Amino acid sequence: MKNDLRIFSGGSNPALAQEICDHIGIPLSPLETSRFSNDNLFVQIKESVREKDVFVVQSFTQPVSDHIMELMITLDALRSASARRITVVIPYYSYARSDKKDAPRISIAGRLIADLLKIAGADRVLTMDLHADSVHGFFSIPVDHLTAGPTICEYFEDRLDLSRVVVVATDAGGAKRAGRFAKRLDSSMAIIDKRRISDSSVKQGLVVGNVKGYDAIIFDDEISTGGTLVSTVKTLEKAGVNKIYVGATHPVLCGQAAENLASSSIAEVVVANTVDIPEDKRFSQLKVLSVAPLFAQAIQRIHTGDSVSALFK
Ligand code: R5P
Repeated sequence: MKNDLRIFSGGSNPALAQEICDHIGIPLSPLETSRFSNDNLFVQIKESVREKDVFVVQSFTQPVSDHIMELMITLDALRSASARRITVVIPYYSYARSDKKDAPRISIAGRLIADLLKIAGADRVLTMDLHADSVHGFFSIPVDHLTAGPTICEYFEDRLDLSRVVVVATDAGGAKRAGRFAKRLDSSMAIIDKRRISDSSVKQGLVVGNVKGYDAIIFDDEISTGGTLVSTVKTLEKAGVNKIYVGATHPVLCGQAAENLASSSIAEVVVANTVDIPEDKRFSQLKVLSVAPLFAQAIQRIHTGDSVSALFK
């Protein structure tokens, strides 16, 4: 079966795509992206994909619009080249944060991009830790939604005394996600009341739950500007917490996030490699876990028609 499986990578995270291929034991298939003098993108698939089962790996990282456009053009090229089925593998779907109409005259862009992916040629989607579970429903094609949760939990299980741990949600929206971690770690949980003031600043108040004297693990889906974490650390310190750890799937690390986290009192920031982190954004408390084995297994199961949910049992 493996001989009609093809994996291509966009420009956002080729290291993850290569690692996925290494796990499966196939080479990364070649494509070439270039830019005309007028800034238009040009993508060429460099081998035949006729009647092949094709996967394209692309995270929506900066420059987000370029990476999305590159993906759309790649999908269109693959479809025109007669691929039998195209699965778009989006380890980090940034537009999942545009998931509701919470201001007048705005677009729910998470749904718009989902529509565009289908129009461009995607038959299926494989993604990880969407900002909200409901974003899954924006797609009218099948979606397999993986989570880095168990990988991150295992890391902490092996290193911390869990009887002294409280799992913390940075806001009410993340309570369900943090609840799943607390259940898995068999620990208590706390939720912080958070209001977003702007893209990079938040205001937090009440801590619901007992954190005093505990080691806290803050679980979140992503670290973007780091504003949420910096504020959460201050709130937890005031509430008398002991050590602070962070588990977050997507290390977006915009602007000064890396510097701010490096100089904070956080003992360890554990993330997944859904987003490629440049050398200058790596800091001593950062631990990156690979989700390539998980994506590789999911791709193999989709390819052979086996259950993907069985991966989580
Ligand atoms: C918020 O709803 C999310 O769960 C994250 O807390 C948020 O996306 C992190 O963004 P930032 O790092 O910019 O505060």
